[in-house]
Amino acid sequence: MTTQQDEMTMNPKQQVASRAAEIATSGMIIGLGTGSTANLFIDELARRQREQQLDIQVVASSVISRVKAQQAGLRVIPIEQLSHLDMYVDGADEVTTSMLLLKGRGQDLVCEKLLASHATAFYVLVDDSKMVERIGEKHAIPIEVMPNAAQLVLNCLAKLRAKGSLRLNAAGDNVAYSAAGNLILDMQFEDLDAAQINALLTVTPGIVEHGIFADMATVVFVGSASGVKLLEAK
Ligand code: 5RP
Repeated sequence: MTTQQDEMTMNPKQQVASRAAEIATSGMIIGLGTGSTANLFIDELARRQREQQLDIQVVASSVISRVKAQQAGLRVIPIEQLSHLDMYVDGADEVTTSMLLLKGRGQDLVCEKLLASHATAFYVLVDDSKMVERIGEKHAIPIEVMPNAAQLVLNCLAKLRAKGSLRLNAAGDNVAYSAAGNLILDMQFEDLDAAQINALLTVTPGIVEHGIFADMATVVFVGSASGVKLLEAK
């Protein structure tokens, strides 16, 4: 058990990773998110498994998280074998006080949303730099589209006065493919709020998934220099 004093020696991302790992108990199947905060959670979970002989299984939202979990000694099962998921733990790019999330800066959002939506509890781990007043404040909204639908979806979003473009790879010399083999549009919507954007994107043909996670989080752990605060679903 991490004490408050231990917690004050950790950086905010470590604090929230450690809090979430404490929720795990033997017998659980635990979903692993993707990103630097999810990585810290994987390390903490593996430490608890080793030191407290926890009997747990994990499922990963990305290749990188699967490899990291295996290297850390966690027992990874494929998504195909999941009958249920006790908890899913992941970071986020933006969070509002009403627990709307923006995710998908990486390229694994389809699997992240799949696991988050099937988990009994979805724990979100962020530091206070991720808190925003409105979704889209700091980041464009990532939208995964079927590869041959990118231009048609862009045309459709332009009618909603959305601005943005196709995501390129790190070298900038080719398009970026998501883990699911799709293309990604990074879009800004000036006239619509997150609830309107969520509703529109969810029914637009050609869109496979998008980065707004609405009504999904169970608890958001927010780490800061003064400790961890919790936002809880009502
Ligand atoms: C990846 C994500 C990540 O959870 C999000 O980008 C946060 O990353 P980090 O923990 O590195 O700040 O949504 O698709």
